[in-house]
Amino acid sequence: MTLWYLARAAGVMALVFFTIAASLGALGAGSRKPEQRFWLQYVHRSAAVTGLLLLVAHVIAVISDSYVDVGASVVVWPFGSGYRPFAVTVGALAAYSLVFAAVVGAARGRLARSEAFTKRWRSIHLAASLGWLLSIGHSLLAGTDRGTPWMLAITIGCLAAVGTSVAVRLRRREDQRSTPLSLARAGRFQ
Ligand code: HEM
Repeated sequence: MTLWYLARAAGVMALVFFTIAASLGALGAGSRKPEQRFWLQYVHRSAAVTGLLLLVAHVIAVISDSYVDVGASVVVWPFGSGYRPFAVTVGALAAYSLVFAAVVGAARGRLARSEAFTKRWRSIHLAASLGWLLSIGHSLLAGTDRGTPWMLAITIGCLAAVGTSVAVRLRRREDQRSTPLSLARAGRFQ
């Protein structure tokens, strides 16, 4: 049972860390204060990397555990899982989106020289948001603990955290649009 507990614990913690990353990413992108923006992005990246490590632990534990029929092939071909096939497929699609966003994010410094890449960066990074949303769907569909009060509280907490951060960002964007640039540069509206 150890592997089964490990798989579930790593899955839940990965979801929590990806939620932290998503929330801070939204807040960081909307911040005009350079120091605040730096720290928000620093913790955003650290949370994303921690989430990825936990995701790797989750997938390895699920595959190694004999309690469920999920083979290693699920990583490249997720559609044939013997255990909750739809839920596992949603999880695999979430993992692809998150890994894709992480790889492109890691190469951002090098790719930044390309103007086309810089223009498309925001839309490419939406893969991370899609991955987070699919992760929520996956945990609601796949999890043994999905109906327990503590797991429901975690899921609602994750949705509330990202929802609030996105709302704050949209609000700031509206404020910035209505603030003259000269006043914003003078630091009077931040
Ligand atoms: C190839 C990718 C993935 C596979 C094969 C996979 C597999 C599984 C399986 C078989 C379960 C059922 C465990 C149970 O019954 O409790 C599960 C649950 C779960 N997975 Fe995944 N998963 C994948 C990706 C992800 C991703 C990207 C996340 C997001 C962070 C995630 C988070 C979770 C969570 C939170 C649970 C619920 C655990 C619980 O209820 O205690 N998984 N996963």
